[in-house]
Amino acid sequence: MKKILTDLLWDAGEIIMEQRDTQIASRRSMSDYTTVTDMRVEAFITQHLQKYFPESVIIGEEFSSSRNSLQLKGSAFVLDPIDGTVNFFHGYPAFAISLAYVEDYSIRQAYIYDPANDEFFFAAKNEGAFLNDSPIAVSQARTLSESLIGFGTAYNKELGKKEIEIVTKIYERCHDVRRRGAASLDVAYVACGRLDGYLEMELKPWDFYAGLLILEEAGGKACNWKGLTIQDLVNQNLLCTNNLIHQELFNLVREF
Ligand code: IPD
Ligand code: CA
Ligand code: CA
Repeated sequence: MKKILTDLLWDAGEIIMEQRDTQIASRRSMSDYTTVTDMRVEAFITQHLQKYFPESVIIGEEFSSSRNSLQLKGSAFVLDPIDGTVNFFHGYPAFAISLAYVEDYSIRQAYIYDPANDEFFFAAKNEGAFLNDSPIAVSQARTLSESLIGFGTAYNKELGKKEIEIVTKIYERCHDVRRRGAASLDVAYVACGRLDGYLEMELKPWDFYAGLLILEEAGGKACNWKGLTIQDLVNQNLLCTNNLIHQELFNLVREF
C-alpha cells in the first residue's frame, strides 16, 4: 500500500504543479474556494484508490457523499486533494495533498505531500513518522515562552475573529505566532518540530486526519478544545502540541 499511495501522491503533485489551473470552480464563502485543480486531483486520486482498493470507502472533500457523516467502520480513505487552496491560487507555496488510511476508526497510515517544497510526510501506526524518509520528532520546547505557535482562522469570519483574540493572548506569551494557511502542514510542522503547537477552530477531518497520526508517531499530542481525544471528527476545534507545552496551551484555549 505504501508504494502505491506514495507514487499516487507524487503523480497528483505533478498535476498540481504542472497544470497549475487556478480557475475557480466554486466559492462557498470569502475564504472557501474550490479550483478546477482541486476537483481534478480528487478525481485522479479517487479513481486510482477505487482501482487498487475497491473495498474501501473514500471520503474526499470535494465529491464524497459522506463528507458530513464519516463512515470509518471497515477500511476508508480520508482525502483533501489540495489543503491550502487559497494559497494555491495566490501562488503562495504552502499547500498539500493530505491522505489518511483508516481501519475501524483507527488511522493506520498517513501521507501529506507538499509539492511546492518537495516535502513528503508519512507515518504508519506504531512504526514512526518520517519526512522525506528521515525519522521526525516533536520539539523539546518546555514552555510557551520558548515556543513558536501556529494557528488557522475559520472560514466563518466571526469565528476567525474570536480565534484571533485567543491567539493574541498566546502571542503575548510565546516567541511568535504563524498563520500559514494549510492545516495539514501546520500539524505536520508540529510533528517535525518546526512549530511547538498549533490551534484552529472547526476543522474538517480531511484537513487534519493524516496529520494526527504523523503527530502521534512523532511524539506529539492532540485533543479538541474540551480536552477530549478526537472522536467526533466533524467540525473539530483542534489543539496540537509537542506534548511538553500541552497543558499550558490548553489552559488558554479551554475557556473558549
Ligand atoms: C483550509 C486550510 C486552512 C484552514 C482552513 C481549511 P482548504 O483547507 O487548511 O489553513 O485555515 O480551516 O479549511 O479549504 O484549503 O482545503
Ligand atoms: Ca483543507
Ligand atoms: Ca481542500
